[in-house]
Formats: sequence, C-alpha cells, structure tokens
Amino acid sequence: MKLLVTGGAGFIGSAVVRHAIAAGHEVINLDALTYAACLENLASVEASPLYRFEKADIRDRDALARIFETHRPTAVMHLAAESHVDRSIDAPDAFIDTNVTGTAHLLQEARAYWERQGRPEGFRFHHVSTDEVFGSLGAEGLFTEETPYAPNSPYSASKAASDHLVRAWHATYGLPVVLSNCSNNYGPFHFPEKLIPVVILNALAGRPIPVYGDGGNVRDWLFVEDHAEALLTIIGQGEVGRSYNVGGNAEAKNIDLVRMICRILDRLLPGAAPHEDLITFVTDRPGHDRRYAIDASRLRDELGWQPRVTLEEGLEQTVAWYLENRPWWQALQDRAGVGDRLGLG
Ligand SMILES: NC(=O)c1ccc[n+]([C@@H]2O[C@H](COP(=O)([O-])OP(=O)(O)OC[C@H]3O[C@@H](n4cnc5c(N)ncnc54)[C@H](O)[C@@H]3O)[C@@H](O)[C@H]2O)c1
Repeated sequence: MKLLVTGGAGFIGSAVVRHAIAAGHEVINLDALTYAACLENLASVEASPLYRFEKADIRDRDALARIFETHRPTAVMHLAAESHVDRSIDAPDAFIDTNVTGTAHLLQEARAYWERQGRPEGFRFHHVSTDEVFGSLGAEGLFTEETPYAPNSPYSASKAASDHLVRAWHATYGLPVVLSNCSNNYGPFHFPEKLIPVVILNALAGRPIPVYGDGGNVRDWLFVEDHAEALLTIIGQGEVGRSYNVGGNAEAKNIDLVRMICRILDRLLPGAAPHEDLITFVTDRPGHDRRYAIDASRLRDELGWQPRVTLEEGLEQTVAWYLENRPWWQALQDRAGVGDRLGLG
C-alpha cells in the first residue's frame, strides 16, 4: 500500500506509521502538528525511504488536493482529530472544525482524487473512530457495530458526526470506505494529559493522583500496538462499507486501573511505596460516561484479529517506558494546558 495517514504525529497515528513501515508499506504522514503532536514519536522511521512527512491541516482543501496529486496514495487512513474529552468541554469549536469540517474536506478531496483516477476498486478510505460514539453502558452488555449512536461529549458527538459523513460518502458517491470504532488506548508515547500517563507522572513526582468522581467508571483498555495492527488488518482486508469494533477484552474501573499502576510503581520504585497514598478523588467530569465495553467478535471472526497484550503486560511495559523516557514527556509537560484540570464545564 501507499498509505496517506492523517494525524501520524499523534499517539495512535505514530504507532500506525511505525507498524506500516515495518510491514513494508510506503507512508505519507499528513499532520498539522497541533499541541498533541510529537514528531519524535517517529524517530525510528524518519530516515526510512518509505516515509514522507507533509505538514498540513485537514481543513485546508488546497493543501489536501496538492498532497493527493503529489503522492498518489492507494489508501487513506484518517486519524487526525482533536481527541481530548476534557478539552472538548472547555473549547468545543476546535473539535467541530477539525473532526467534522476537516473530515468533510478530506472526504471531498479523497473523492475528487479517486474519481480522477477512474474510481479504482482497490482504493480505501479508512476512518478511525471511537467507541464513545455509542454513549454509556449500564453494568451489563457490550457495544456492537449495530449499537445506536448516543454520544454525550462534544468530542464524541464530533466523532459521531464524522462517522456519519464517511458512511454517507460511501452510500452517495460510492467511495470505498471502511470504519473502525475502538476503545481506550494506552501505551508508549501517550500524551501526558491522558489518564494513564497522568497517573504515572503524578506518582513519579509525588503529586496527588486525581481520580474523577467515585472512580467507578469502566473502560475497556487496548494496548496501542495492538490497535495499530488491528487498523492495518482492517484497511487491508475489511469489507467496503463495513465498520469494525476494536477492543482489548480488558475492562477495568478507573480506580482499579490506578491501583494496578501504583502496584507496578511500588515494585519498580520501592523507596516511594505505597504510591496508592497519593490517590485523590476529584470533582467528576460533566456528562462522564459510566461504562464502555466492546464486542470485537466481528473483527475476530471475519478478519482474524485478536489483542495480543493483556492489560497487566501492557501496563508493565507502559510504566517501564515512561521511566526510561523522561526527556520525551518532560518536554511535552510544558505545552499549554498540560497538567491543568480541564473540562469542569
Ligand atoms: N486515544 C484513544 O484512546 C482513541 C480511541 C479510539 C479512537 N481514537 C481516535 O484515534 C485517532 C487518533 O487518536 P490519538 O489519541 O492518537 O490522538 P492525538 O491527539 O494523540 O493525535 C492527533 C493528531 O492529529 C493531528 N491533528 C489534529 N488536528 C489536525 C488537523 N486539523 N489537521 C491535521 N492534523 C491534525 C495532531 O497534530 C496530532 O498529531 C482520533 O481520530 C481519535 O478520535 C482514539
């Protein structure tokens, strides 16, 4: 494949770029380099003859048209987005601009390019989305691909809107799309404003570890490298027009997840144990979804993908990575808003 990846300097996008190049695909990474981007995530591949970088914004149609014509990709994997729920509560406009309008512009330019090429059947537009579009579950049940959309945050609503645009570009114009909706990711290179890095870095600094509400919110955690492999499977083998749920089979309450991380840190840094003493319950996020859980059986049964890394193994690797990569996260902690309590409404 000659793959145009949008958002390839972000957390998941950079994992996709690294995996795609390791698999022998050519990659053009299109990224606007917002506060969430980090080109250092790509240090291991930047010298590869298979890798190209284009600094561009998906809202800039002229730039998109130029990039399609210059590079002539055979597939697009679209990950560029504003992705932090708490930021979406404080400043939703950027989420509408990038996630909705930006996706519409990318679809239009991808479609124009695909039509100019004579509508090749093998072309793919893979839209990467979240399980948050389905809203919140009660104590039982799982999200399937047929679960009705019921997004509750400005972030998830903007992603839901983008999913609908992608479906419509397939139904109306025949653009060969595939979609995927994934649960919460974690792993190396996770931006230091998201839950798991916040827990690790606050614990390392001896600062309070904030847990929203009563800590009973449940998420289904997936190691980012497993997600990258799932995405390459879906873009390579997924059925056109179909969507696939991606999950880790690893449900955990936030408070239990935080305690697991504290126990790993106690083992690695016994001098500072017990890290659990730093746990502090703080005001909940407004509209905080109670539980997400994924039924990923379509992806397993039809395309043969399953997560390889358990939550215990993945957390162990992640904590070790943060301990070994202090310069990476210290540089990002200086960026605007990082470390502040956001999203109180
Ligand atoms: N992180 C998760 O747990 C998770 C789970 C499921 C789905 N997703 C989806 O996966 C995708 C990637 O998530 P992530 O956590 O890696 O996000 P991220 O915030 O780490 O990275 C987003 C990247 O997109 C780029 N970007 C933002 N706006 C842009 C624009 N207008 N034009 C071009 N580039 C732009 C940023 O510079 C950044 O490099 C998103 O679409 C997100 O909705 C994330």
